[in-house]
Amino acid sequence: MSPPEGVHPDGAGAAKLVLALPKGRVMEESLQALRSSGLHLVARDQGRALRHDAGDAVVIEMRNADVPTYVELGVADAGIVGKDVLMEMGSQLAEPVDLGFSACRLSLIRPRGVRGTIERVATKYPRLTAAYLARVGSGAEVVKLTGNVELACLTGLADAVVDVVQTGDTLRDNDLDEVDVLAHSSARFVVNRASLKLRSERLRPLIEALRRLPGAR
Ligand code: PRP
Repeated sequence: MSPPEGVHPDGAGAAKLVLALPKGRVMEESLQALRSSGLHLVARDQGRALRHDAGDAVVIEMRNADVPTYVELGVADAGIVGKDVLMEMGSQLAEPVDLGFSACRLSLIRPRGVRGTIERVATKYPRLTAAYLARVGSGAEVVKLTGNVELACLTGLADAVVDVVQTGDTLRDNDLDEVDVLAHSSARFVVNRASLKLRSERLRPLIEALRRLPGAR
């Protein structure tokens, strides 16, 4: 029987790297960064395959928030994910490269001109939000949402939200103010610690090349 895709009969060191990448707007920049670092990666065809042999690596595609889990548990050797997600998860993953792209802020947002005591905050980042509220001495309740978080402010579900601000377009289009910044984020290259040892001949040069990209460190 032939070995599964990405697994080499000569052992772990010889197998193709498995990379966990987030679907959506970060995917293209991630592929571009990896290609600029010397990996030959072909785009997947028109279908909806979530796992494909891209040439020099096997790419598995998932939601941003699931990337750390796939890398931590060793299903993927490495991945690309926002620092915001890593902070919210309290991740202990090795993150050897700050890729610099997808730069954004995690901010406290309120309806334009509205100030005063906050009673309820809606967010996709309940841990970071609770820590922030404790820091500023607020007893506000935290409500977890999964997307379009700003809607909570517009509908009265919450009197503030904590969410990502990237271009600021969402704030402008919805009459919202950014009233405080909790943290800054950008895309990080994360690696599984066992892979870093067992597959260092592939991962170390890739890490070095990624660090040399413009905007990365
Ligand atoms: C993110 C974030 C904001 C928006 C901010 O949403 O939650 O809504 O981007 O970006 P901007 O400042 O450039 O407008 P995303 O599109 O990832 O979708 P989601 O809210 O469903 O997670």
